[in-house]
Amino acid sequence: MSNHLIADRFYFSNDTLSLIHKYSGSTFVVKYGGSVMTDSFLQSQVIKDLSLLHGLGINIVLVHGGGMFIDQWLNKLNIKPSFENGVRITDSQTMDIVEMVLIGRVNKQLVSLFNQNNVNSVGLSGQDASLVVASAMFSSSTNLTGRVDSVNPQLLDLLLLNRFIPVIASVACDYKGNRYNVNADTIASSIAIALKADKLILLTDTPGVLSDLNDCSTLIKELNLESIESLKSDNIISGGMIPKIQSCIDALTGSVKSAHIIDGRVRHALLHELLTYDRIGSMIVV
Ligand SMILES: Nc1ncnc2c1ncn2[C@@H]1O[C@H](COP(=O)(O)OP(=O)(O)OP(=O)(O)O)[C@@H](O)[C@H]1O
Ligand SMILES: [Mg+2]
Repeated sequence: MSNHLIADRFYFSNDTLSLIHKYSGSTFVVKYGGSVMTDSFLQSQVIKDLSLLHGLGINIVLVHGGGMFIDQWLNKLNIKPSFENGVRITDSQTMDIVEMVLIGRVNKQLVSLFNQNNVNSVGLSGQDASLVVASAMFSSSTNLTGRVDSVNPQLLDLLLLNRFIPVIASVACDYKGNRYNVNADTIASSIAIALKADKLILLTDTPGVLSDLNDCSTLIKELNLESIESLKSDNIISGGMIPKIQSCIDALTGSVKSAHIIDGRVRHALLHELLTYDRIGSMIVV
């Protein structure tokens, strides 16, 4: 019997049961994009679905961005957001906003939603226990956009062993204490590699990888490293999809078994992607 999608509901079937058996005990690193966090009802549904997956025995690590919230605060302060190849350019003033919005607001809001589902979660950023050590991505000393140098998964191992869900804001420091804004897709993939995770899952505001950005029917459901390279060279990947795809490539070459890019705007997208064989998004394997 196959699963069926009816409106925004999710039905359990034999497929679901076999996939639950398959994934119980696995580790999934999920990145929740800022682009799909603005609808508070959807946000609470995403956290409910993650709570369910956790209840099924899957170890969940949640990494989040919050681009839209950062932009809202930058606008309030008359600071113009700027991007290069889908990555935010961060000066010191922007960095203050990134820290306050991601660590102070978005992170704690997600933890609070887990609390409402009686799931233990702990809000962190890359700074906690030197979880993520970063350095400057660009040579300019005024640009605090960072890249990941190393991940120390000790704290995550401890939390997962005790059935906590770590919720990680995409901010990190170097050993001297300099702060960096690191793309959340990049942090998620680095953490997935360090944890030897089974899956990297990127929730975003598009159905997955599209061969025509303006046509949702052009969703590519299965990709491998070779097909991704040809999409890149054909310039089909642009903007925020660039760091996303690079994160998937890094994760897969770093021994993560599969990467998924799925539509966080669809109710129960996580369940449809992970607990049905039909799936709804793009899955990338080696
Ligand atoms: N080939 C493609 N298929 C699908 N989306 C694409 C493609 N090329 C570029 N994109 C863009 O990538 C965007 C997703 O990346 P974006 O960085 O905006 O979201 P996010 O990473 O989920 O959010 P945030 O960066 O705030 O955490 C899509 O909205 C789409 O415009
Ligand atoms: Mg992005």
